[in-house]
Amino acid sequence: MENKNLLDAIKCAIVHKKVGSYIRENIKINMTLKNIAILIEDKIKEEIGFDINNPISQGIAFPVGLSLNNCAAHYTPNYNEEDILLKDDDIIKIDYGVHKNGIIIDSAFTLSLNSKYDEFINISKNLTNYAVSLCSVDAVLGDIGKDIEEYVKSKEITIDNKTYQLKTMTELSGHLIAPYQIHAGKAVPNVSIFYPMRMKEFEYYAIEPFLTNGDGYSILKSPNSHYMLSKNHDIVNNLNENECKVYDIIKKNYYTLPFCQRWLYELEESIKYDNILKNLEKKKIINVYPPIYDINNSIISQFEHTIFIKEKGIINLTKNDYY
Ligand code: CO
Ligand code: CO
Repeated sequence: MENKNLLDAIKCAIVHKKVGSYIRENIKINMTLKNIAILIEDKIKEEIGFDINNPISQGIAFPVGLSLNNCAAHYTPNYNEEDILLKDDDIIKIDYGVHKNGIIIDSAFTLSLNSKYDEFINISKNLTNYAVSLCSVDAVLGDIGKDIEEYVKSKEITIDNKTYQLKTMTELSGHLIAPYQIHAGKAVPNVSIFYPMRMKEFEYYAIEPFLTNGDGYSILKSPNSHYMLSKNHDIVNNLNENECKVYDIIKKNYYTLPFCQRWLYELEESIKYDNILKNLEKKKIINVYPPIYDINNSIISQFEHTIFIKEKGIINLTKNDYY
């Protein structure tokens, strides 16, 4: 069982790395975020062999995160939004996932086309690799958070002649990954908290400290783009015809994986999804995950790896030439 899972994970990790090189070769200043998202999504589908007639057997594991500057996570372009261009002094976190049979690889990197962020981005990269080095069977998750916090507190950085203390985003953590479940219960904190849970053999984790020069506290903003069926989505009642239709589309195409508003419009443009998504949220059929920001003018960097816990040691599945 675990071996078959691991083969799927390795396959997805190879695709993830290939897509990463492809992004770094093709991303250019003044591209729209929408075009960057579609470039990544098309490449994932091609490499993993996505089949529209069997949409949840393999494919994109969650919406492509393209979070700029003080946005940490959960931003992806919406269908009807105005184009946002990638500028040369932006710092962008590119977070995307690949799955096969629900086995998910979740990994992210940060880029800037401006070298003034190089040192900041490097600290973030080293921080994630340090965090990965703390992981093993029986590692206490709260202890990992404490070590991450200590590492970050020892760093400061100067950008444009201004010096900043660094932090991690307090409320964002790494996470256990299970089949078709991106956040599977256990967290890997990025700050020191009391959390005595341990890593166990055969588990998959995403390790992802978010480095910031801001406050480190999450600010939720609109518009929303990320959604997922709720735990109790099966207890469907009092849905009207349109809500039922959209619920069926979601269940068939994404099952319990996260999805975004834009993908729904790409599937079937004639449905007015925006209100229906709001209603499904009110009726607790889906959950919404708003974009998460730090304070204005701060910058955030993120590197994320998916690891597999072995009897002895770990496999860093997403380790590659860049991070
Ligand atoms: Co991620
Ligand atoms: Co993650």
